[in-house]
Amino acid sequence: MCGIIGYTGFREAKNVIIECLKKLDYRGYDSAGIGIIDDKLQVFKEVGEITHLEKEIPAMSGDIGIGHTRWATHGKVSKENAHPQISPNKKIAVIHNGIIENFKKLKEELENKEHTFTSQTDTEVIAHLLEEYYEGNIEEAVFATLKHIQGSYAIVVMCEDEPEKLIGARKESPLIIGVGDNENFIASDIPALLKYTNRVIYLDEGELCVITKNSVHVFDETKKEVTKKEDIITWNVKDAEKSGFPHFMLKEIFDQPDTINQALRGRVSEIKQTIDFPENVEKLLSNGTDSIHIVACGTSYYAGLVGKYIIEQICKIPVIVEIASEYRFFSTRNKSSLVIAITQSGETSDTLAALREAKNSGCKTLAITNVIGSTATRIANGYILTQSGPEIGVAATKTFTSQIILLLLTALKIASIKNTLGSNDLYNYILQLKELPRHVRQILDNSDEIKRIAKQIKDSESVFFIGRGINYPLSLEGALKLKEISYIHAEGFAAGELKHGPFALLTKDTPVVAIVTNDPTYNKVLANIGEIKARGPQVIAIADEHDTEIEKHADFVLRFPSNSTLLSCIPITAILQLLAYHVASLRNCPIDKPRNLAKSVTVE
Ligand code: F6R
Repeated sequence: MCGIIGYTGFREAKNVIIECLKKLDYRGYDSAGIGIIDDKLQVFKEVGEITHLEKEIPAMSGDIGIGHTRWATHGKVSKENAHPQISPNKKIAVIHNGIIENFKKLKEELENKEHTFTSQTDTEVIAHLLEEYYEGNIEEAVFATLKHIQGSYAIVVMCEDEPEKLIGARKESPLIIGVGDNENFIASDIPALLKYTNRVIYLDEGELCVITKNSVHVFDETKKEVTKKEDIITWNVKDAEKSGFPHFMLKEIFDQPDTINQALRGRVSEIKQTIDFPENVEKLLSNGTDSIHIVACGTSYYAGLVGKYIIEQICKIPVIVEIASEYRFFSTRNKSSLVIAITQSGETSDTLAALREAKNSGCKTLAITNVIGSTATRIANGYILTQSGPEIGVAATKTFTSQIILLLLTALKIASIKNTLGSNDLYNYILQLKELPRHVRQILDNSDEIKRIAKQIKDSESVFFIGRGINYPLSLEGALKLKEISYIHAEGFAAGELKHGPFALLTKDTPVVAIVTNDPTYNKVLANIGEIKARGPQVIAIADEHDTEIEKHADFVLRFPSNSTLLSCIPITAILQLLAYHVASLRNCPIDKPRNLAKSVTVE
């Protein structure tokens, strides 16, 4: 959601903050603002891209400041509602990510004390409360203010009368400290900082930090100072750049041969024929030998649905997959089942809430995430990392394929713990896994052909995706990718379901993308394609390279290299991603930043 950065050090704060905001604008991008203390506190805000803001800021030499990119929650997109929000005496500025649930009540109380508000945001009450409680020490004012606030927040505060300090605090929204030499940072996430430092400290729930250019102090809710450990981030600046690609999304699709290798590295031994997680989760996984419950949102949820097919087939244990925001309405919690939360960012509020709920009900929990140190890794009993490097495009791509790889490795590990997998089976999976980067590269080499097919659907109002078995969640993901970046209405269906209702929507102008693999459902999917063709639409089949039958049934065919049916899901995904990408590109859509969406959804 909103992106947050605070800087104090030896450089000109304005330049550093603008630079960092550009790295953060994938979190939210409806408006942005910056506050600098250059003798006096000065605040500049603009609607739209960071570049609009950059043009409006005069030269300033202040070396301490804060910056924010907004994804609106309270109040329309406007200059007044952008952050920083400032106190009535214009001496204290705050930037905020999260939602203050009791802000209306607080606002009323403050208005009764003659406070006048200038924005519709929930954040402005924080600035007003800070002025109310300020008695010469800004961290004391923050402690006092937070006592009155209900909801979630990651905030950074600065005060003109104490121009050497930045205060950060978090509850249910991420915040990290970047540690440098003679300079320090506070940020909502890692890519903002990578150019300046790879040393980070993660704030835990309820903690507050006070940083100056050469000191960092962290306190818990009782104001007791806590000793924190520094983590070293292995991502580098290049990982967070486009490297010549027109969009981050395309770069991240093309990263996949490498990110698949990264997900396998150190975990799969062809020689020993074993699967091992360096993260030491073996004991935890032995809790998953009877049943597994997966919770996640969006694309990560679809990875969970793919995982269900994989785990059930390999381990022969039941898997329930639940949308995280629905999990709380689930009345049965089976303590003996392992709960796996899948979250690329490790910060999605709904997924974290489900994870906490599972843990509080006594279930053992495992997080699959891309971000070491993220809240998910702190809540869960154990975690495994996708190791995909930063994903900047709002639409998840490389992290989705790596989540699936980790679910497959999890299945293989559980099957070895249960002793239900023949050693030949394990060896075959290992060999096929090793082939995956090459198979995905083959798809990427065929990108122009996929673009040619994309032209067939770029002007459609609606596109359907169908598949059976493991290809059903891939259809859901293919449709989600297309709708979120191209704004074409798209829906994924289990191929057998069309005739139970959706056929009513099908016209000759509704292209259907059908995923067809050589498995026991093959003939049934062909029959479904026949039913569709009888109603006029064009069918684009995604089929095995050796399938000679499919051309008689579909109008266009995109091919993927033969592999086991379970593992074909990875190259098929690459086709779906490229199809969505090319359609969106042909329609000139803002691919990396689709309207109304943000990369990390930190509000429920
Ligand atoms: C879609 C997409 C989202 C995320 C969802 C969960 O392309 O990226 O649907 O998958 O918001 O995010 P994480 O995985 O960070 O919990």
